[in-house]
Amino acid sequence: MSTLVPPSKEGSSNDHEDLALKEARITPIRRSGFPIGRRKLFVITGIAGAVAIVLALALGLGLGLGLKKTSNSSYVTTNSSFLLDPNFVVTSTPTTRYYEFVISEAVGSPDGFQRTMLVDQFPGPLIEVNSGDELVVNVFNQLPNGTTIHWHGQLQNGTNYMDGTNGITQCPIPPGMNFTYHFTINPNQYGTFWYHAHASTQYTDGIYGPLIIHSPSEPIYGQYDREALVILSDWYDVMSSGLLTQYLSTAGIDGSNYGGVNPGAEPPPDSGLINGKMNGSSFDLQPNLRYRLRLINMGTLTEFMFSVDSHVLSVVEADGTSLVPVDVHRVPIHVAQRYSVILTTNQTAGSYNVRAEMQATCYKLGNPNLNTMVLATMTYGASPTTPNSQDWSDAFPSLCLDLNNTMIVPQIPMNPPNSTDSVQVFMSFQQTTQSGGTQTLAFMNSTSWKRIAQILPLLQMSKLGIQTTFDSSQLVVVHDNITVFDLILNNYDDASHPFHLHGHVFWIIGEGDGDYLSGVSQLNTTNPPRRDTLTLPGYGWVAIRFITDNPGLWAFHCHIGWHMAAGLLMQFASLPSQIQQFQIPSYLSDQCAQQSGGLVVN
Ligand code: C2O
Repeated sequence: MSTLVPPSKEGSSNDHEDLALKEARITPIRRSGFPIGRRKLFVITGIAGAVAIVLALALGLGLGLGLKKTSNSSYVTTNSSFLLDPNFVVTSTPTTRYYEFVISEAVGSPDGFQRTMLVDQFPGPLIEVNSGDELVVNVFNQLPNGTTIHWHGQLQNGTNYMDGTNGITQCPIPPGMNFTYHFTINPNQYGTFWYHAHASTQYTDGIYGPLIIHSPSEPIYGQYDREALVILSDWYDVMSSGLLTQYLSTAGIDGSNYGGVNPGAEPPPDSGLINGKMNGSSFDLQPNLRYRLRLINMGTLTEFMFSVDSHVLSVVEADGTSLVPVDVHRVPIHVAQRYSVILTTNQTAGSYNVRAEMQATCYKLGNPNLNTMVLATMTYGASPTTPNSQDWSDAFPSLCLDLNNTMIVPQIPMNPPNSTDSVQVFMSFQQTTQSGGTQTLAFMNSTSWKRIAQILPLLQMSKLGIQTTFDSSQLVVVHDNITVFDLILNNYDDASHPFHLHGHVFWIIGEGDGDYLSGVSQLNTTNPPRRDTLTLPGYGWVAIRFITDNPGLWAFHCHIGWHMAAGLLMQFASLPSQIQQFQIPSYLSDQCAQQSGGLVVN
């Protein structure tokens, strides 16, 4: 049995977590090609630090002199061109892997426009593990605000409290403190994953990186010679906190740059990046090898269309599920999704364009200054030159949708069991006056999620189990026994939305236009696609099925940063009686108790 817990009326609380953020901001300065600073060398402390940097520039010292650029520039490209180490030992014998992140404000200019970023390095350090390994990441927070790190796609079976979801499984790591994430990579999980800050829109400012899980049991293991990361992200030239305040305000974002006032329209990005650079990344490959390119969209708003001139891409993985290979020229990839494609370096030696075209037609509001064609260079068998290769002549319809589900056929077939429970959810954007002025917020049914100043929901459940009551801004579906569950999600918005479920791999059993109609809408239960992030079509519906066998409180949300911050999030609370057995580390509850307002558990 499921219990749907949205108390009927809207909450009166107006503390959308995002409005509370007050990050130091400096005016961006145009300055090309300067790399992102690493760790303390480039820490600027608030306005004083920013002023010092601006001064250094004005004096003509340049940051390189004034602040000592290290030879170990923070662009990971300087080390490896984002090629994975072919000597990494893939084994089924687990080990423990330790990492340390120091997250701070730093100055960088990934697209040539200098701004404050939030980073360890950019993109974040590669975490590379085998299935079954134990992962220990000690995160030091040197930001002026709290943060958390979420391990996107990790099942976290038995360790929901390591999921890193601000306001749900964890209170933010206070400034100046650290938090040790410690969990086991599921022995049956492998593929391409990532991690990112999960507090407000912080990841938009740079806190994200790749997490790769190898396994000799991965069906596509051994079908390629080398591997490379292809990290795609959209990028803004100012801090997300300021954009978010505008986005959630009555007037909406300042439309003067975009041709008008636009309440409810998402801020369009200023540029796009491949492996942390605009038009500067290079893939230096060897001829006549099969490369597994691991595409990850770490962006905030943008769906990319990925292609490489003259090279067919064989799609073999979607979000950790190995696929029956399918050849394409272009791959659409929405926010938070991953694909692996095999590319064979068997064409004429030379340089080719790698293209990540930003699907700007999917935005509510365009940015006339945005160059939507983001390029990198792939070279083999010759010295790199500026490619004069041509784009594929066949277009892929830019419909703001995923690859067709018929192309996502898992290599290990699995038919979902019959469902034993289901819920319909309707997502929409609505004007509300709950915070005083008129605002456009996002709703799941009648609920707009807020990280509220109440006891952390997970800590509360660990004390009270199924008797827990949730604040009225929390839409929570509770299952107190293992259920095969169908979630039917209807979209009352014209735009498509990439939805992600924490802690699970779901089956996509249906999708269509308009509303889902029980008994009429077609469902497919024969080896349907399995993944963790899917695109809900504009004015359409999707049906996903999953098994509620993973104890914990799991977020289900649109991964567009602006939408999540506007409340487009609900939760699943699975097996409360097992949540009560969790050995939650005391530092987690201690950090909750330290937050302003004193979130003390009973
Ligand atoms: Cu990438 Cu809530 O997650």
